Amino acid sequence: GAPLGPRRISRRPVPALPDTEAFLAAALQRVRRRARGCLAPELCVQASEFTFLFPSLQYLFSVCAPIFFQRLPLFNLGIQRKCYCQEINFLFIAFDSISLLSLGLGTMGRGIVTSLVKANIRVVALEQNLEYLNTGKKAVMLLLEREAMKMQKGAQAPDFHNPARLQFTVDFDLLRDVDLVIEAVFENMALKKEIFHKLSRVCKPGALLCTNTSALNIDEIASATSRPQQVIGTHFFSPAHVMRLLEIIYGRHTSPTAIATAMQLAKALDKVGVVVGNCFGFVGNRMMFPYVQQAVFLLEEGSTPEAVDRVLEDFGFKIGPFRMSDLAGLDVGWRSRQEQGLTGPALPAGTPARQRHGQRYCPLPDLLCEHGRFGQKSGQGWYQYEKAGGRTATPDPWLHKFLSQYRDTHGIKTRRIDQEEILERCLFALINEGFAILAEGIASGPEHVD
Ligand SMILES: NC(=O)c1ccc[n+]([C@@H]2O[C@H](COP(=O)([O-])OP(=O)(O)OC[C@H]3O[C@@H](n4cnc5c(N)ncnc54)[C@H](O)[C@@H]3O)[C@@H](O)[C@H]2O)c1
Repeated sequence: GAPLGPRRISRRPVPALPDTEAFLAAALQRVRRRARGCLAPELCVQASEFTFLFPSLQYLFSVCAPIFFQRLPLFNLGIQRKCYCQEINFLFIAFDSISLLSLGLGTMGRGIVTSLVKANIRVVALEQNLEYLNTGKKAVMLLLEREAMKMQKGAQAPDFHNPARLQFTVDFDLLRDVDLVIEAVFENMALKKEIFHKLSRVCKPGALLCTNTSALNIDEIASATSRPQQVIGTHFFSPAHVMRLLEIIYGRHTSPTAIATAMQLAKALDKVGVVVGNCFGFVGNRMMFPYVQQAVFLLEEGSTPEAVDRVLEDFGFKIGPFRMSDLAGLDVGWRSRQEQGLTGPALPAGTPARQRHGQRYCPLPDLLCEHGRFGQKSGQGWYQYEKAGGRTATPDPWLHKFLSQYRDTHGIKTRRIDQEEILERCLFALINEGFAILAEGIASGPEHVD
């Protein structure tokens, strides 16, 4: 009954702020700082600015801007918060009432346990022997103490000193009663198959068996069990208690229930679950391989880890490829390359140092590992750190000398490499692989790749 005119939102005045310009400029600065390199947040602030200038556009922008800007794949390098799980009905499992076993308390296991405990999930953490268990336990407790300190006043900290909530053990028999296992042992197919075979014999029939492998074939791991429909990849990113992305990889036999449960786990952990297909490296690492490969090629040609990292961090990546590799552990990729026969004892005699299967190959990451430089965990990698496990990266004169000797050995002439070349070579490698992943249907849409 009421006339439309006064109800039109477009006609409503926008209340003026005392100093609109300064307010918006400060907001833009804040957004740029927080979401470095991401286009969408900045454009949203600019869209809001328009609404002050042209109030009738207020409605248009508030409704259309988010829709429009979400459709900027590959340009908006921020991760979307939305989880997609196509053609699957979610199962609503109360994760706080289940018990979960984390196998392996290395770099990843520690972060995974921390993440689970923070989500109030009962956890049993299992290691191969007491020495590894004690080191892992100490590291987990430290992480949890830090997390508890970060929690807001009044919030209830997880009860991680209670063995009924978090138990550390080397007793494989304790996994009889768990509902879900997350395996995070060394990246080695033979070891993973041995463990999954054991798990399928010992765990109760309904238990879901998840692997945190970075790249290995989920179907092959599942083939070692009597329940391949309950085997699934849950690929956490390092550090697992911080990074929000969780890749969920289904194999040929993985059941929809297993996928839905893994998605529900992502939700319980406040992570962004993305369901992807099974291929070497899945989506995240498969894209990372050519990106990091370009970065090491740039070192061969005359650049430095600091220069490459700086360009990519200035562009908007939270961390450049070399600092990232040091954080994740250089030995992880080294083990994987050894398994693939790209380096180590399995490499056929007479293989050229800088070529594999007819393609250019850079052995620098392998050489660093041969020198015991595994990144932060050993105190030296592409950078040097204050101690093993230290986090402050500083340029390492040893590495610079090593690079220059390496170039001399291989007769590589260095040249000046500018910022644009660094940016384009690394980014284009990333983008091209993203398109290949889409073309093969490993990811079902660009939003999953982003
Ligand atoms: N480091 C990363 O950035 C990263 C990221 C994502 C996924 N991953 C994957 O996660 C897995 C673990 O990687 P990580 O970096 O934590 O390795 P890591 O070497 O730091 O830790 C592996 C742990 O597994 C334990 N372990 C080995 N055999 C065991 C057994 N039989 N029973 C119980 N524990 C055993 C070891 O004692 C060790 O503590 C690998 O598959 C890796 O590819 C690693």
